[in-house]
Amino acid sequence: MGFNIAIDGPAGAGKSTIAKRAAKELGFIYVDTGAMYRAMGLHILRNRIPKDDEQAVGQACMDVKVSIAYENGEQQVYLNGENVSGEIRTEEVGNVTSVISAYPKVRKKLLHLQQDLAEKEDVIMDGRDIGTCVLPSAPLKLYLTASVRTRAERRYQELTQKGVFCELEEICKDIAARDERDMNREVSPLRQASDAILLESSELGIEEVTSLVVGYAKERMEKGQK
Ligand code: DC
Repeated sequence: MGFNIAIDGPAGAGKSTIAKRAAKELGFIYVDTGAMYRAMGLHILRNRIPKDDEQAVGQACMDVKVSIAYENGEQQVYLNGENVSGEIRTEEVGNVTSVISAYPKVRKKLLHLQQDLAEKEDVIMDGRDIGTCVLPSAPLKLYLTASVRTRAERRYQELTQKGVFCELEEICKDIAARDERDMNREVSPLRQASDAILLESSELGIEEVTSLVVGYAKERMEKGQK
């Protein structure tokens, strides 16, 4: 059994940035579960399946193979054998994914893949339900969040730097809508696990949050060895 760190939190809280850095420092594997859901979202978009048709989405996901591999230490996500890592990062894919990830059939499909990875390796895994459903016995759970405004501003900066035209107010609305869906769905809603440590990052920089996470991890690992 690997040592597992679960990081949950809303969209744009910086989970992947922090988890990637902490994984590097700790020598752990970073598992981005959102990328797996996004691959499913991309499949639904490509096949023009209406995202609100739960039955059609569930059926389409049954026939799909999502897998991950690591190249130069970076997670790559494959959809039916095709590397789609470059295509899943758009707002369009993110918004469809937030809708379809509420469907039990979609979640069931990815749950085992995530649990198998954590069984074999020391992982730092981020998502929405890692501490509550995927790895409920993880020895370290974190809930990383920031205000909607802060998260929207970070996302705006990121997109603008990439040369993507966007409006801050639109991003704010998208993030608030995604929070609403992710937190209020019936299956595996985004929630802070009762034993998770809360990290509010609105006033904290990347380095500060990363060193907090690494510090907690080292403390828990030492405790586990005693
Ligand atoms: O973390 P992200 O923005 O890449 O995730 C995209 C969507 O996938 C998000 O809106 C909710 C869903 N998701 C989920 O339901 N459970 C997870 N463990 C990870 C992501």
